[in-house]
Amino acid sequence: MKMNNLSLLFLTHLTLFFICVCSQNIAQTQFVYKWSETYCNKDTPVGCKQIPPLKFTLKGFWGTDSNGNIQQGCKDPVVRDWNKVFDTAMVNKLNVFWPSLTKQDPKDMWKEAWNTYGTCTMKRFKTPIQYFNRASRLDSEIGDLLQSHLINSNGIVPCDSATYNNVEILNSFKKVAKNTDVYFTCKDINTTHAYLNQVTFCYTDEAKDFVDCPTSLINKRCRVQNIIVPRPSPPKPIKQQEKSLDPIAYGDSWSIM
Ligand SMILES: *[C@@H]1O[C@H](CO)[C@@H](O)[C@H](O)[C@H]1NC(C)=O
Repeated sequence: MKMNNLSLLFLTHLTLFFICVCSQNIAQTQFVYKWSETYCNKDTPVGCKQIPPLKFTLKGFWGTDSNGNIQQGCKDPVVRDWNKVFDTAMVNKLNVFWPSLTKQDPKDMWKEAWNTYGTCTMKRFKTPIQYFNRASRLDSEIGDLLQSHLINSNGIVPCDSATYNNVEILNSFKKVAKNTDVYFTCKDINTTHAYLNQVTFCYTDEAKDFVDCPTSLINKRCRVQNIIVPRPSPPKPIKQQEKSLDPIAYGDSWSIM
């Protein structure tokens, strides 16, 4: 009896110790999409291997603390069998909204996402499968809405010659996010114009309900007056170019291998 109590006490302490060391206190989760064309061709060149799709694709899914700091770099206590995690069904699911636009193998990209960010959300998502399934569910809830509100209707057209003001863009996103405050960034062109870059949707810690994004983020939201949602287009044939174009730089920017 005495021994039992002692070992129970020991176990309790061990468990508490484990919880303190291994769990991050996640106050919110964030689901971040990037506008593919800005990512591929307007921001720092990343060498996209394909013409960017005319849509938002996932940039990341992570937890933040109460100050809005992204929680990252937690240790995964378990060795994963990645072939089991990334079975055909999972790969097909993730490829729809979380494709690798660069030469990086998508499975490596997703593994990196789990190891960097997913491991810090293990209080909620105990396994990579749970984490990726939740990401897929979030996309199925808002991906189409995002596409239809921002891209397919309501007058916002991805086009290099059309501009929208930050309130119009914000309102389109808010419609998707049940009117909660979202965060979005731009890639500046000059002081008056910028390309739409990324949008962050904020959720409760278990990634179920929308919440307002942290004020620290909202304060940094893109406030440029003229926002362009650039439209991906295949490279024009050389003879149609008015100016001579350096074929090397040209090839590089599209990275057609
Ligand atoms: C800023 O960039 C936009 C889009 O490229 C352009 O139309 C505008 O003339 C530029 N404004 C200035 C002040 O350079």
